[in-house]
Amino acid sequence: MINEKFSKIGFVLAMAGSAVGLGNAWKFPTMVGNNGGSAFIVLYLVLTFCVAFVAFLAELSIGKLGESDVVSSIYKLAPKHKRAWSLSGFFMIGAVLIASFYMVVIGWILKYIYLSFGKLPVTNEQAGAEFDTLLTNDAFSAILCFSIVFLIVFFAVSKGIKSGIERLNVWMMPSLFVLLFGMLCYSLTMSDGFVKAAKFLFVPNFDAISADTLLQALGLAFFSLSMGVGVIPTYAANLPERTNLIKSTLSIIFINILIGIMMGLVVFTFIFAYGGDTTQGGPGLIFVSLATLFAKLGVIGNVMAVAFFVSLLFAGVTSAVSMIEPFAYYLVRKFDFTRKKALVYIGILVYVLGIACVLSYYKPTAQNFSVFGKPMFDALDYLTSNIMMPIGAIIFSAFVGWVLKKDGLFFLFGDFMGKFWFEIWYFALRFLVPIAIFIIMIYQILGK
Ligand code: PHE
Repeated sequence: MINEKFSKIGFVLAMAGSAVGLGNAWKFPTMVGNNGGSAFIVLYLVLTFCVAFVAFLAELSIGKLGESDVVSSIYKLAPKHKRAWSLSGFFMIGAVLIASFYMVVIGWILKYIYLSFGKLPVTNEQAGAEFDTLLTNDAFSAILCFSIVFLIVFFAVSKGIKSGIERLNVWMMPSLFVLLFGMLCYSLTMSDGFVKAAKFLFVPNFDAISADTLLQALGLAFFSLSMGVGVIPTYAANLPERTNLIKSTLSIIFINILIGIMMGLVVFTFIFAYGGDTTQGGPGLIFVSLATLFAKLGVIGNVMAVAFFVSLLFAGVTSAVSMIEPFAYYLVRKFDFTRKKALVYIGILVYVLGIACVLSYYKPTAQNFSVFGKPMFDALDYLTSNIMMPIGAIIFSAFVGWVLKKDGLFFLFGDFMGKFWFEIWYFALRFLVPIAIFIIMIYQILGK
């Protein structure tokens, strides 16, 4: 069994690596764009601190107190009904399911890195057609790129917590930051676009807030902090002794928000400077709008495009790694599998599902890969983001808030937050968090 733990900084970077991902690069700017900019950010910040932060600490405590994989930790900690409670640990399978379609998207990013070295599409139609071709006509490229990403991610996880995951994060996260920072500096030279982008992101416009915005912001906060699918307890089980849990969590949340905002500033500076559409959603914003904007800049555009897509690649890979680890860690600890053997089993599942996701967009096979009338890709995204993550987060919070002993939690957190804040946290965990998650879930299932 591999028994190495994270170093303190390694833990923060790995957890931030998990949090910072395609969610920040794609969901964040898209949702900000669609929901009136700054108002959405304000809401997102409030919900991140009042709800997500509270539940995050609960998940941390499961890992830290249980010191094992999610299933065994919960089993160990539950005073009664051990078996039933420990079943909730299997929400970690949600992370494996996310990995399958998430790595397909990282595959597209890889393809765009390659394209960024050549001629970028000049018009929106061209860019749209090019992206469409990759999805619906060029299954070979999509599968090839997915396979490369798959190998990189599984190779990193196979090296274990310290020499694999920590090492990867320790160089990818700072590189991501440097690349983004460089792009941000460049954005500053487009002063007109930059000022408009900053205004759009930071000058509050509260008219744009509605119930819908509220719920979207909460959903994003959960997705973005990798909640409800066992990632946080698994990483926390590998924390070094005497880590200041509050300081680490705040750093992780701060990095997550900072990178989201930097991404937002870069993306919107380009969009405003060149008259792109702020409300274009999903892949459109990144793979279509931004690609054409880069094309307008000539060679510098190529450099920017490479830097941008490489930073997305790093953000994505560090998240993907965290999706595989919980289940691998479980198989290794529970069944004494070697890491390699565990990864072969998980790998087969992820690879098959990933290919199915690619084929669910590929025109000739799309029909055979639809589930409940949705392409497999969308179905998996829906099942995990809208159902498994919120339910997982609710169960983990309820377990810590209602089942675990308050003394044990105070022992864990008391030193770092004091009695006053501990009581507030405990109250929020028991009442605010379940109610908030319940509402968002019902809303998402019933459709907008
Ligand atoms: N937080 C990641 C992102 O923002 C996604 C993620 C979800 C990672 C679930 C791990 C587990 O892209």
